[in-house]
Amino acid sequence: MERKRAWTGIYAIDSFRAYRNAAVLYLLICSVRAEPCPYPCTCTDDSATVTCLDLQEIALPLNVSRWTSTLTLRGANISIIPGSAFSANGTALELKTLRLSWNNISEIEAHAFLGLSRLLVLDLSHNRLTSLSEMAFYGLDELRVLYLNSTLSPQGARELPKALSTGSLRNLQRLELSGNRLKAMPIASFDNMNLNMLILTNNSIETIGKTNVSSLNEFKKISVYLSLNPFKCNCELESFYYWLKNDSQCADSARLLCKLPEAKSGLHVEKLRREDVDCINAELEAVSYVFLGIVLALIGVVFLMVLYLNRGGIKRWLNNIREACRDQMEVYHYRYEQDSDPRLANVAV
Ligand SMILES: *[C@@H]1O[C@H](CO)[C@@H](O)[C@H](O)[C@H]1NC(C)=O
Ligand SMILES: *[C@@H]1O[C@H](CO)[C@@H](O)[C@H](O)[C@H]1NC(C)=O
Ligand SMILES: *[C@@H]1O[C@H](CO)[C@@H](O)[C@H](O)[C@H]1NC(C)=O
Ligand SMILES: *[C@@H]1O[C@H](CO)[C@@H](O)[C@H](O)[C@H]1NC(C)=O
Ligand SMILES: *[C@@H]1O[C@H](CO)[C@@H](O)[C@H](O)[C@H]1NC(C)=O
Repeated sequence: MERKRAWTGIYAIDSFRAYRNAAVLYLLICSVRAEPCPYPCTCTDDSATVTCLDLQEIALPLNVSRWTSTLTLRGANISIIPGSAFSANGTALELKTLRLSWNNISEIEAHAFLGLSRLLVLDLSHNRLTSLSEMAFYGLDELRVLYLNSTLSPQGARELPKALSTGSLRNLQRLELSGNRLKAMPIASFDNMNLNMLILTNNSIETIGKTNVSSLNEFKKISVYLSLNPFKCNCELESFYYWLKNDSQCADSARLLCKLPEAKSGLHVEKLRREDVDCINAELEAVSYVFLGIVLALIGVVFLMVLYLNRGGIKRWLNNIREACRDQMEVYHYRYEQDSDPRLANVAV
């Protein structure tokens, strides 16, 4: 009992010292970092985390503290992110995480994120991007994670490959693009990124062509997620099918389903048979149908020719038949007349 109290006392003194030291440190830091919180937002940890929720009006460029490390803006009607939107005079900020989801953003101008050279995570999900400057991501040299899920309009999706290929995103490791109704992989090349995770789930991808498959084969460390896409399980899917079977690069391969053709709807892509996606088989089949058609046509032509060449003989033959018929009919007719003569009948009686 005694001992325990003594320990507690020592602990109390220790923790008092720790608190005092921390308080001194805190004051020191504060005197360096003291920055106002941008008006309608809430700030914690002396502006290290700035959160602005459901503001209708927000003026960009935003004047955040140099020392802010996480900035979250959500539910604002931002529309356009102009150049240098987060660092008005181009000074480098310490920002590590920037969350901009659900802000109705439709356009990102060139150099929008200038000054955020330390940024690691950028979340632009759930907006409606229709215009994306080629230089939109310029200066994000350290970016590791980019969320673009449920955010691209078809036009935005068309502009994405260029914006991703400027070389600014050379450290990007994770790219999330789910829920964008994408019909193809919107990445021109993996060379200028450092991807290890590519998320393309819940899109409208029917097939992934040979070029994409061989690009992926060159970058084995990229894990690709592709579930919830309406795969078209015909022979165009061949190289993708073998990539899927042979590689562990598709992280959710067991969950890929066929949508088309109707007969294969709901089947697992991975469990298709080789014949189902075999282009040579399909070609052979097509070729054999063509052959059958040609042979039938030839037979038809030959038949018609035989008819044509024999037209004299056929005419004669038809005439003969007709004559024969007529003779026969006459015989019948004669007989009938004889049988039905009433006088002859009376005579017989
Ligand atoms: C959002 O902003 C745009 C233009 O800045 C405006 O046309 C639109 O009406 C605004 N929407 C809402 C819901 O406030
Ligand atoms: C840029 O703005 C920051 C504050 O946001 C200020 O401390 C700095 O002096 C400014 N730099 C220039 C070059 O104006
Ligand atoms: C797929 O994406 C659409 C469009 O963005 C979204 O509305 C839907 O909720 C998503 N579905 C799933 C299962 O995530
Ligand atoms: C993937 O395919 C699309 C469309 O077929 C093409 O535009 C894109 O450049 C390809 N990307 C890679 C990395 O092969
Ligand atoms: C399967 O993968 C191995 C090793 O990656 C490779 O040597 C082989 O050619 C691949 N086979 C097919 C059919 O792609």
